[in-house]
This record gives sequence, structure tokens and C-alpha cells, in this order.
Amino acid sequence: MAISDTQIDKLRARELERFIANRPRSTALWQQAQKYMPNGVPMAWMVQLYDHPPMFVKSGDGAYFVDVDGHRYLDMNLADTSMPFGYAEPQLTAAASEQMARGSQFMLPNEDSIAVAEQLSSRFGLPKWQFTLAGSSANTEAIRIARAITGRSDILMFAGKYHGMIDDTLVAEDGGERILEGAGISEDVKKHAHIVQFNDLDAVERSLKNHDIACVITEPALTNVGVIQPESNFHTALRELTRTHGTLLIIDEAHTNVCAFGGLSNEWKLDPDILTLCKAIGGSVAIGAYGMTEDVASILESQSDSELPSFATTAVVATGGTLFGNALSMATARCTLERVMTQQAHQRANDVGGRLADGIQNKIEAHGLPWSTIRFYCRSGYFFAPDLPANARQMQASENLPLRQLIRLYLANRGVWEAIYSASPAVGFRTTANDVDFYCEAFDNCLAGLVRI
Ligand SMILES: Cc1ncc(COP(=O)(O)O)c(C=O)c1O
Repeated sequence: MAISDTQIDKLRARELERFIANRPRSTALWQQAQKYMPNGVPMAWMVQLYDHPPMFVKSGDGAYFVDVDGHRYLDMNLADTSMPFGYAEPQLTAAASEQMARGSQFMLPNEDSIAVAEQLSSRFGLPKWQFTLAGSSANTEAIRIARAITGRSDILMFAGKYHGMIDDTLVAEDGGERILEGAGISEDVKKHAHIVQFNDLDAVERSLKNHDIACVITEPALTNVGVIQPESNFHTALRELTRTHGTLLIIDEAHTNVCAFGGLSNEWKLDPDILTLCKAIGGSVAIGAYGMTEDVASILESQSDSELPSFATTAVVATGGTLFGNALSMATARCTLERVMTQQAHQRANDVGGRLADGIQNKIEAHGLPWSTIRFYCRSGYFFAPDLPANARQMQASENLPLRQLIRLYLANRGVWEAIYSASPAVGFRTTANDVDFYCEAFDNCLAGLVRI
């Protein structure tokens, strides 16, 4: 059974009216905020995500948060995977408060940084670590290091990727043409960015052979276009190809680190030269990090043997930032890794994630929809086609943005928040089986509402 555009438009109009009518305080704050912030929000682009006014949040606890109008939401996006431990996690709250009381930023290392690097090293299997404040800055430094080591400028990425707000990676391919994914980026960036489809190893090989590629950067599975999983030999072959052609392999685990203890690099035994992280490992405080092999790290270590560095030098890799590795983010990261993101916590979330995938699949089948279900650790979801896509091109062929937006809006009106439809739903360490059933019931009602209208 197919759902028509008319059905979507009709239900959407009704849900939009309901959403706005029930949020007078958020709407008033939004109007007030427009005086001080473009689009009335701290990050102007966020309003493009939604076809309704943004909600203003009051507080959160566990898997739920409350908006200023008093609505309670089950967060099924985990604030884009940054909060798998839930809101106001007691151990993290204590770690942050204690560190604030001792001083949160010194621009000097403290003992926590050693504990965090040690934890990351044993989980993710790479010996040397550096810290930043976001995934974007971790990837920026990783790409610079790859260029410095190889002496090459070009990078290879997979269509449908997102690696942060970095000029170098904000390039897409459209009908064989490279296009910039935003205004304000130099046209020159396009020259150095190569895009191929995920799982297309022949295209990877052609690119590596024909161009001087410094690095391939990829997530273990693409997670910003729903979830697109690698075929069985993809990562082994990718690693072999990059080695053969002297190209570094950067694995971006910004999102996937929540899938398993040590991320998917540990789970799938990946072998990157550089691995980048952010979000969850900071325990709700801003963080970015990257791990490297000894060989890669030596490009940074050589700086300490040189003459006293001057700002004019071009020999050292450009890395660093005033608040990178600050004491607060090290304290919450240490607590997260030592006490919160445990093997058991991941296992529990993945079990609940399995229940979510089962529930979604049952509802889709019950309504006779020709859709496929994503089953991916703590993360689930669905595509509007009977088969799971192998790459972004296949995914886009069946994608229906108005339908995604409608489902998100309908769920918000029933107390379920899926912030980014392309990256949801997911469960965290404090999401229960009952929460998942609540989600599935709302999803079921949405599909029933669509069919009926
Ligand atoms: C795969 C991936 N890499 C990097 C980033 C950027 O991380 P940040 O927002 O911390 O800069 C994101 C953000 O969602 C991401 O999904």
C-alpha cells in the first residue's frame, strides 16, 4: 500500500496546527529571541530542520526532557547521539560539579587527560590521542595530519557522508558535478574532494589510482542518511586499497561510538590510521578526540624536537585550540569512560534497540507498507523501499522528506522527540522496553492516521 502526497499534506496541516497551538510559551520565546539571534536560535541553521517553530527546553532527566510549555518528550534521537546516558546522569552531574568547583580550564594538562587517553586507547586500539572540542575540529586536524604525512591535498569521501562543518568535506556530487554544500566555502575546495558511492570498491580503487589522495574518510556505516551498512568485505578491501596506494584511512566514529564498547572499530576489528570521536564520550560536555597509530603520531611528536616553535613556521601541523582538552571535559570524559559507557550499558541499549527494530518492523508489516527496517545496535529506523540501500543514491531514490517531517511532527505531538529524522530513532542507556513500546504505539497511530485520512 502506498501513501499519497495528499494524505501526507492533510495530516501534516492538522498536526502543525496542533503543535503550534499547544506551545504558546515556546512561540513567544522564539519571537523574543529573533531580536538577538539570526532565526531566533543559537545555531541559525537549526530552523531549517523543522517546519514548525523551535521548542525551547526547560530541563531533562533520564530518557526524557520537558519544554517550557510543560510537554514531556521521550528523546529518541539522544540529542543526535550525544546523550546516550540520558539527561542529568547522576555520576556525570557530580563529576562536572566537582571539577567546576576545582577550576575547569587551565590550558595545562591534568591527570584526567592521561586516564581518558588510556581508556580510549584500550577501547579503540590506537595508542596515541589528542583532544579538541567537537567532531568537526577532530576531523579537521585528522585531515591536516594526513595531508602533512602524505604531502598530498586530495581527500576521498562517500556520497551521503557528513563529517562536520569543515570546508574540506562540505562537497557533494550531483549528476557528476561536484557542488559545495553551503555558501561561504571557497570554490577551490571542490578540486580536492572526491566523492564515490559507499560500498563501491571499484570506484574507490579508480580514485586512489588516478589521483593523489591523502586520505579516505568514512564512518564505519553511513549514519546521516538513515543507516547504510557496509557489505561484508567492504572494510577489509578499503583498508587494503588505502595501504596499497599510500593513502591514510580515517574512521569517523562520531555517531557509531555509541553502538558498541570501543565503537564499531572494536566491534568489527577495523584498522584505521586515525580514528575520530566526539559527542557522547564527553559525557555531555563539549569534546572531540582522535586516536592515531605510533607512525601517524610521530608527525606531531617531531615538533618537540625542533627549535622553539614560532607562529611563522610552516613545518608543524596546524592543530590546537585554547579550550581543547580542558579540565571540565577531561573530568566528564573520564567519568563517562570509566563508569558510564560500560560494556553492560551498551549491551542493555542494544537489547532495547533490538526491541525497537522488531516493533517498527511489526507496525510497518501490519499496515502493509513496502518499507524496510534498519536494525543497527541501539539505532533503528526504516527506509521507504522494500530493500535496504547499499549507498546514498539508492537511499535518495526512495526518500520522502514530507513524509519524514510529518512522522516527526506527529510523534512530537504525542511526546516523542526525533530531532533529526535522518538520524533516528535510537535508544540510550536509560531508555526502557516500556519507552520503546510507547514509541512504537505512537508510530503505529501515525501510520494508521495516514491510512485513514
Ligand atoms: C559522522 C559525523 N562526524 C562528525 C560530526 C561533527 O561533529 P560535531 O558536531 O561535534 O562537530 C558529526 C555530527 O553529527 C557526524 O555525524
